[in-house]
Amino acid sequence: MTGERDVVRRERFSGGPAREFLSSLPADRRIFAADLAVDRAHVVMLAEQGIVAADEAGEILTALDIVEVDGHGALPEGEDVHAAIETAVIEEIGPVGGKMHTARSRNDEVATCIRYRLREDLLDAVEATLGLREALSATAAEHVETVMPGFTHLQPAQPTTVAHWLCSYESALRRDAARLLDAYDRTNRSPLGAAAFAGTTFDVDRERVADLLGFDGVIENAMDASATRDFLVESTAALAGLATTLSGLAEDLVVFANKGLIELDDDYASTSSIMPQKKNPDTLELVRATSGDASAGLNGLLTTLKGLPRAYNRDLQRATPHAWATVDGVAEATDVAAGAVATADWPEERLAAAAGEGFTTATGVADLLAAAGIPFRTAHEILARVAEGSADPDYAAVAAAAEDVLDEDLGAHVSREAVESALDPAESVAARDSTGGPAPSAVADQLDAAEEALADDERRTADRREALADAADRLRGEVRRYV
Ligand code: ARG
Repeated sequence: MTGERDVVRRERFSGGPAREFLSSLPADRRIFAADLAVDRAHVVMLAEQGIVAADEAGEILTALDIVEVDGHGALPEGEDVHAAIETAVIEEIGPVGGKMHTARSRNDEVATCIRYRLREDLLDAVEATLGLREALSATAAEHVETVMPGFTHLQPAQPTTVAHWLCSYESALRRDAARLLDAYDRTNRSPLGAAAFAGTTFDVDRERVADLLGFDGVIENAMDASATRDFLVESTAALAGLATTLSGLAEDLVVFANKGLIELDDDYASTSSIMPQKKNPDTLELVRATSGDASAGLNGLLTTLKGLPRAYNRDLQRATPHAWATVDGVAEATDVAAGAVATADWPEERLAAAAGEGFTTATGVADLLAAAGIPFRTAHEILARVAEGSADPDYAAVAAAAEDVLDEDLGAHVSREAVESALDPAESVAARDSTGGPAPSAVADQLDAAEEALADDERRTADRREALADAADRLRGEVRRYV
């Protein structure tokens, strides 16, 4: 570690005992490639604007190629990757390398690098949600008729289907993906050219740099551009929201596994070091716990940013890793959840038997009485009496309670057949065909919508990936004009 080699710090600010504390170089490995791209786009623009000569640009761009081949690990010591790459370029080609930092600051540079890299990470996270949605929909398509108990307060509530439960998470994940893509679109703006915060006297072309880096445009106000990390907040918030969805999904599966309503694949379970008979849903518990990590990331970020004055403050160096840790953890948990869903087995007989346990058809029978003209509150009272008397009531039990409450024969209102149908979990499900309901016909519509939404989001994600790849090609092409 030779702080003296750092072209930014020189002898005066060698760092002393705080050198490592000050440095973000190890964490900056993540933006090494981003910084090289940002350097290249900036140098191309400087040459195009006549701010550096074409042959000087060529020398700098050649040096950047060498730095890239040597890799992040070969960088000289520096306060951060930006200073270290500049130092390496100067070591390679001499003082002319110092022209690279004309008309910019590390403040706009780092903000640009973070956005540049985060774009890929956000698209990875979106793709993970697409994989999970696919697993949910594909499994749902196989279980449109598989009746299971639905719960509220974790108590048996009403019969539903496995497909209806799966589709409920698919639609939540659709919104999670939409939030990530929204965050992507606001992340994808270039701060470069803002310099420290006060712009520059040089005739820079900010739009050109933005275009070479695949950004949709610039963050105009230079002070805002260099200072803001709101894109990290919204990206991390979207990820924390996704993690919360995942935690609910994982918790449901843990509960279902506990009740024997689902059989997890061995790959997604673990066992006990002492109790040989155990099969534990460990992967899902870890998915559930990821929401704690994501919440910590979001809170770490917000707390670090709160009250920071304009424009740049070094606190910002500690804000960024919260976002990296969150996006990595949540994307991985999403992939694991997709694997667990895709490989789990739903034991249909056990599910069908459990679907009616705890008199889950009570609401359906009450609805039947209400449809026959009995006020719903009265019907509710009748069924509450039935439930008090038996956990698995038959027609006679319903008729007896109705006669008690109504003081007349139940047959005057509904047929025995209709009541028996309402008492049957599968028929109870089939009758609830309102929009979004669990009836197979209603779930078929939900699956159609899910398929369409998935195709749309796949296209949105692919378009963004393609735009980034095109920009990278364009930049490579421009660089080749100078080297
Ligand atoms: N490593 C710094 C960060 O992550 C880069 C910017 C340094 N700027 C400065 N004015 N010290 O924020």
